[in-house]
Parts: sequence; C-alpha cells; structure tokens
Amino acid sequence: MAHHQHCSESAIAGSKEHDREAIDELIASLPRRKGAVRPFQCLYQNFWCPIFAVPKVIAFQRHFETKHSDIVLASLPKSGTTWLKALVFSVVNRSRFDISNTPLLTSNPHELVPFFEFQQYGSSPRPNLGGLVEPRLFATHIPYPSLPECIKRLDCRIIYICRNPLDMMVSSWHFYVQMARSENQPEWSLEEHFEIYCQGKLSFGPFRDHMMGYWKKSLERPHKVLLLRYEDLKEDIVGQLKRVAEFVGLPFTKEEEEGGVIEEIAKMCSLKTLKDLEVNKSGKVALTIEFEKRSFFRKGEVGDWVNHLTPSMVDRLNSIIQEKMSPFGLEFKTC
Ligand code: A3P
Repeated sequence: MAHHQHCSESAIAGSKEHDREAIDELIASLPRRKGAVRPFQCLYQNFWCPIFAVPKVIAFQRHFETKHSDIVLASLPKSGTTWLKALVFSVVNRSRFDISNTPLLTSNPHELVPFFEFQQYGSSPRPNLGGLVEPRLFATHIPYPSLPECIKRLDCRIIYICRNPLDMMVSSWHFYVQMARSENQPEWSLEEHFEIYCQGKLSFGPFRDHMMGYWKKSLERPHKVLLLRYEDLKEDIVGQLKRVAEFVGLPFTKEEEEGGVIEEIAKMCSLKTLKDLEVNKSGKVALTIEFEKRSFFRKGEVGDWVNHLTPSMVDRLNSIIQEKMSPFGLEFKTC
C-alpha cells in the first residue's frame, strides 16, 4: 500500500494539469476510516483528512503561489479558529474599516478569512487569488509538514492557535453532536468521540503531531510562525493582540493604544458580540459542506472539560500531553 501511495503521488506531482484520475487512484490507495457523522476520512501524508478535501489539499499544494505579505492562520478544528480569524482580520484591516463599518457585522469570520482546503480550492484547482487585497488572509487546518513548499520557504507569516486538548476534545464533541442532530443522524457518544480523539483520528489529527509541528517551527523560526494559545487570549486579550499586530508588522501606535482601539477590537471579536450578531445567528457557511453559523459559537470557556470528562479520561489525555508534548516545552493551562 505504501509503495502504491508513493507512485500515485509522484504521478500527481509530475503531471501538468489537475489529474483527477491520478488523484482518485491515490485516494483509493489510502487507509480510510468512517468519520464521525460525515463520510470517510483518509490518512493522507500522515494526517486524517476528510476525503472530499483531499483533491483540494492537493490542488493547494501544487498550485498556490505565495506572496511575501500573505498571512496564514492555522489551527486544528475547535481550537479557536473563528475567534482568531475575527481578531486578525480586525487588526490587519483596521485602517480600512473601523468598528462601526467592519465587515464582521455582516459576514461570518469564515467568509472573511477563507480556508484554502474548503473554500479557495473548493471549486477550482486554480482559483484566481492574485487580485485579492494585500495582505491576503487565508486559513488552513493542514499540518505544517503538508503546507506547500512556497509557504514554508518565503517570508509570509503563519499564526497558529492551539488550545488545551481537554477543552478542544469536549468542544469538538459538542460540534459533532449538534451536526448529527441537525442531520437526523444517530447520537455520537462522548466515550466514542474520546476514543477516536485519543487515537488521533479526528479530522486533521493526530492532534499532538499537528500542535507539535507548528510549535517546533515557532521555536525555530519565531518571525515566521507565531503560536497563540486560546487560554492566553482569554486571560489577556490586549497583550495578545499587541503580539499579533507586531508579528504582522502593523504594531499599534501610541495614539491607537490611548484611543482604546485594542479594546474595541477585543470587544467586537468577543464571543458575546459575534454570537449575538444576526449574521451569525442563522444560516450556514459553506466549507465545502455546509455548517450552521451558530455552531461555531458555544460557551468559549477554559475548563469546560470538568463538566464532561471522567477522572480516567482526564488521566489518559494528560498522559498524552505529558509524554508527547510537555517534554518539548508545549504546555497548557486547563482551568
Ligand atoms: P466551545 O465549544 O468550548 O465553546 P473553532 O472556531 O476552531 O471551531 O473553535 C470553536 C470554539 O471556539 C468553541 O468553543 C467556540 O465557542 C469558541 N469561540 C468561537 N468564537 C469565539 C470568540 N469570539 N471568543 C472566544 N471563544 C470563541
């Protein structure tokens, strides 16, 4: 199987046009598993990718052309992606829009900062991205090693958000349960979800490899990769927004700081504000498949896991963190 996979990937890399047949052959050769609620996932380049997204990931890897000014927001699902999109969009575009006319009032953050693998490469393998306003803002759930080489090589910046795995697990379970309900699918138990999560088989996992990949790069190349933690954003949003603004080369001026611009952005992007906006209360956002916009806004707390996990579940997740992450310096606040 490994040999077959290798040959198919070479065929794709070597062909000039988007080669649907070679991609189908590759996908057929990959290990697969039935996903939670949604169809199948396959193990592509050592991460579990929804099957429908694989051709888009390949198109992105093959055809994306980076600009130095690009900013890529990277994350695992349920680690605060929506929040990060709102925050970085606001920081980067603060000279174009103020809070009274920010597009966040009329668009969901996922519409303003599209995912490469769901939206930008959703309908065409060669979308025209050259004319987008700079700096261009994109998002991805793809692990660092699978990003296109041009993103790794050039000076464009990556901002990664991570969250303590206990809360992320609970958040993703709620998300899947809601999705199952809205599609009249059978309930999905917390125990089942926990097992799949620990095995690293939820979309874009294993979660530990995903986080470690970006974490290590943020240490090696701090000007290239900024790693944020959900818990730090909750604790000190102003301090974290300053880090973001400096990282993208647009530090807040003294006048902005004194004028309360940072606090305004924080308030605009808070869970309460975004959740209460009409645009986020109903309707769906198309991330290849459609998701209820409101499903991206739930409780937004640090430590919600205490309401769901048994002591043995906590022990098991903590031992994964302690064995696979803590030795490399990646630690989390969990309450
Ligand atoms: P909970 O399920 O714990 O409430 P993602 O955006 O990666 O899908 O992550 C969703 C999680 O982030 C959910 O966590 C959601 O409530 C939380 N979230 C969404 N918007 C947020 C915001 N503006 N501030 C804080 N948390 C937010």
